[in-house]
Amino acid sequence: MSRRLLVVYATKYGQTEKIARCVAEVAKREGIATELAQIDDACTPEDFSDVVVAGSVYFGHHSRKLGRWVRRNAPMLAKRHTAFVTVCNEVAHAPVGTFLRDSGWTPGTTAVFAGALRYTRYGWFFRLVTRRVAGVHDDVEYTDWQAVEAFARGFLADVKARAA
Ligand SMILES: Cc1cc2nc3c(=O)[nH]c(=O)nc-3n(C[C@H](O)[C@H](O)[C@H](O)COP(=O)(O)O)c2cc1C
Repeated sequence: MSRRLLVVYATKYGQTEKIARCVAEVAKREGIATELAQIDDACTPEDFSDVVVAGSVYFGHHSRKLGRWVRRNAPMLAKRHTAFVTVCNEVAHAPVGTFLRDSGWTPGTTAVFAGALRYTRYGWFFRLVTRRVAGVHDDVEYTDWQAVEAFARGFLADVKARAA
């Protein structure tokens, strides 16, 4: 069976998109038909055999939009080879279990990656929180790109094994 991969993401300041794009680019290099899409109502897992869903965390929660999308598509996701990627800065406290319990989806794999702070692009409130909580006054990227590539290669090895 020929495989098709959907990498779908919800982002506020672009770091989750960057990580999703990295996974999609590794997949394309491996010769896997891949689509990269932002989460919205028009996007569904229907035409795909493999799905990576990625979302970021603010104030202890993934976005409501991501939650709604996953709940709506949970029956379809359950029949596919899937992974859930969380992007946040307090990696050890990522609210992955809570999100998945509330959304009714059990992905095949989960991964958590450190994100970034885009201080120069924030409004006054996010700047205040960033200064107070992280002591940061400028843009900082924490993502371990080698870890993202290693995750992508592991997931894609399973994609290829299922195609055989
Ligand atoms: C105001 C604010 C609140 C945040 N709250 C959390 C949080 O509760 N837990 C956490 O681990 N990371 C938190 N983060 C870090 C974000 O998850 C991180 O910036 C991530 O890279 C955002 O990804 P995005 O650009 O794709 O939205 C917060 C960041 C900001 C600016």
